[in-house]
Amino acid sequence: MDIKKIISEMTLEEKASMCSGQDFWHTQAVERLGIPAIMVSDGPHGLRKQDEGGDNLGVNDSIKAVCFPAACATSSSFDRELLAKMGAALGDECQHEGVAVLLGPAVNIKRSPLCGRNFEYVSEDPYLASQMAGSLIKGVQSKKVGTSIKHFAVNNQEYRRMTTDSQVDERAFREIYLAAFEGAIKEGEPWTVMCSYNKINGVYGSENKTTLTDILRDEWGFDGLVMSDWGAVNDRVAGVAAGLDLEMPPSFGENDKLVLEAVKSGKLPEEVLDRLVERILKLVEKYESSKAPDTAWDMDADHELARETEAECAVLLKNEDRILPIPNDGTIAFIGKYAKKPRFQGGGSSHINCHKTESALEAAADPKYGIKAKIIYAQGYDDKDDVVDEGMIAEAVQAAMKADKAVIFAGLPDSFESEGYDRKHMSMPGCQLKLIDEVVKVQPNTVVVLHNGSPMEMPWLDKVPGVLEMYLGGQAVGGATIELLFGRKNPSGHLAETFPLKYEDNPSYLFFPGKKDVAEYREGIYVGYRYYDKKNMPVMFPFGFGLSYTEFEYHDMRLSSKSFTEGEELTVTATVKNIGKVRGKAVAQLYVRAPQDGTDRAIRELKGFVKTELNPGESKTVSFTIDSRAFALWDTEVHKWVVEDGEYVIEIGESSRDIKASAAVAVAGTGKRPVRFSYTTPMADIFRFPECKALVEPLLEGYILGSDADGESAAEAISTEMQEAMLADLPLKALLSFGGGKVTNQMLWDVVDAMNALEIEA
Ligand code: BGC
Repeated sequence: MDIKKIISEMTLEEKASMCSGQDFWHTQAVERLGIPAIMVSDGPHGLRKQDEGGDNLGVNDSIKAVCFPAACATSSSFDRELLAKMGAALGDECQHEGVAVLLGPAVNIKRSPLCGRNFEYVSEDPYLASQMAGSLIKGVQSKKVGTSIKHFAVNNQEYRRMTTDSQVDERAFREIYLAAFEGAIKEGEPWTVMCSYNKINGVYGSENKTTLTDILRDEWGFDGLVMSDWGAVNDRVAGVAAGLDLEMPPSFGENDKLVLEAVKSGKLPEEVLDRLVERILKLVEKYESSKAPDTAWDMDADHELARETEAECAVLLKNEDRILPIPNDGTIAFIGKYAKKPRFQGGGSSHINCHKTESALEAAADPKYGIKAKIIYAQGYDDKDDVVDEGMIAEAVQAAMKADKAVIFAGLPDSFESEGYDRKHMSMPGCQLKLIDEVVKVQPNTVVVLHNGSPMEMPWLDKVPGVLEMYLGGQAVGGATIELLFGRKNPSGHLAETFPLKYEDNPSYLFFPGKKDVAEYREGIYVGYRYYDKKNMPVMFPFGFGLSYTEFEYHDMRLSSKSFTEGEELTVTATVKNIGKVRGKAVAQLYVRAPQDGTDRAIRELKGFVKTELNPGESKTVSFTIDSRAFALWDTEVHKWVVEDGEYVIEIGESSRDIKASAAVAVAGTGKRPVRFSYTTPMADIFRFPECKALVEPLLEGYILGSDADGESAAEAISTEMQEAMLADLPLKALLSFGGGKVTNQMLWDVVDAMNALEIEA
């Protein structure tokens, strides 16, 4: 395709028509010039291809497809290869179905446990989010179809998502919210990016030049296409100018008309429109030149992959007295509706029309899993309405009494969490709470299996010995649950988010979801474990936590060097040993602890992870390589990543609260920043530089605690150390009042100018 030539042959009207799709899921074709339409479909954990009756909320039917575990689950795998493998399967599905771009992954940070769409998002941590999303992107795109990382940016709630203004400070924006996108975009190079509905610090995501052009393209080097979220366009002309290429779905020509008029009137330069058309044509060409509709799609094979994937994701949260795995004999009561009809995906645009599903009850009866134990079942509750059904509970209690052990399948119903609205609270349904209470009264050997998209309060936690978090585990969740419960597989998932004890503990609690159309992110950089760790608060389950049927030991931690200078790389190694009796996978997590004495820093931040499988008694070396970014913070004075000098600590742990080994490294930053002085700069900041101190000292002669206050009683009242300490915080301008009348404004202004003229960098 000679793109430049095609553009030169296009009429202005044709070019403007390319600014939006042809229908809900296709780009605009221009038959006269041989430009075909290409199709995009949701995403992210399955293919939601709609033939007709397009909608963005999963209301109308889509083709039969395979529902893989949702991101809440897959992120817990801490397994990049697993995500790439799942992505490759999705890529094949897209090729088979003629879909050019899969709309995902969704990488918005889990700021509050109540965000209705957390099940689709990856983590509260930007590094983990970027790694898992980047791997999925690479997997899908290895099949030569595109992805659309979304929703760019700071779309962390559903409440008023189309109008709210996410107001976030510069450091949190860069270090937390944008970093998740930045890493995934640089690592995965997605073909497209989808902008968010909300405003970002006052400007809609769909017309935000700062995010769409200055940061995304100029800073990060993204060269693909940006599309709108479905219906996210407000001022289309401003959007074109800001860097939004494609409006989806189309607004029936209305906004294209505005673009046309703007170009005709000279308000919008034609080159800007040409560049937009060029990006769309490049995307069309990219897909057209590599489309492979003959690609096979074996749904049954993908179902198996979905189950294998889920088995790597589930998180063993509690296992007292090794209640799990369950011995494969005796009688086991499966209690709870989700044993028969699991909740395995969330509602909204990611909702898959599954080709088949597999419940735990079905799997337990399937000879392929070899379950010999007798399984009896009681429904226990209905998740349609949250009403306690005493009859069902009595039945469940009977079943629990008859059995050697009980497994309660519980979690959150569809009505509690979905795209389109946020959760109202962090509780489980009352009917399930009552069920758990009654069952544990008669059966102490009870395990709770959870199906939910985000953390819940667990008032019953102390009463049950075992908890297995399956999250929303995809259509094959039942098989994976059986494999894990009976020890066919060993749980190896670790939490990608903190489970607080109660909702009020969450750092966004006071400000979420904001008032009317303003959401203030007042907790700043202290999101998730960064907050709980800084405040040393107890949590229910910390970030990175996950048990196994075996145990691991860490030793011989080594750094490639005891010092690090900005621009270098540092290699960290440690030996992990499986000290238990069964094979299992360890998730070694690398955290960096910045000095806590100056700038606001989290106690520790995740900067690396490795998942590795070990036989009993086996040891392996895990290795991590980190660079300057692992130590850097976003400096709001110079608007850059800066590495501050100091002694940092590298930690290796099994969660953010379970550090197994650590080693110090002396870090030297080279990124000097210009130092500016003003009328109000405190003396301490001036005295750091001897050349400045020399300039200010003559003005101190008449300082009230200085030369005039050297009498005996003054010396008794105030020591030299005290004087120095007081002087440290004194702004320069205070010499006007405390300089004994010897200092004038002009002298102060002159000294400020003289100090700035030194052009000091530090
Ligand atoms: C969602 C997107 C989705 C799009 C198309 C929107 O409502 O926010 O994530 O890709 O619809 O269905």
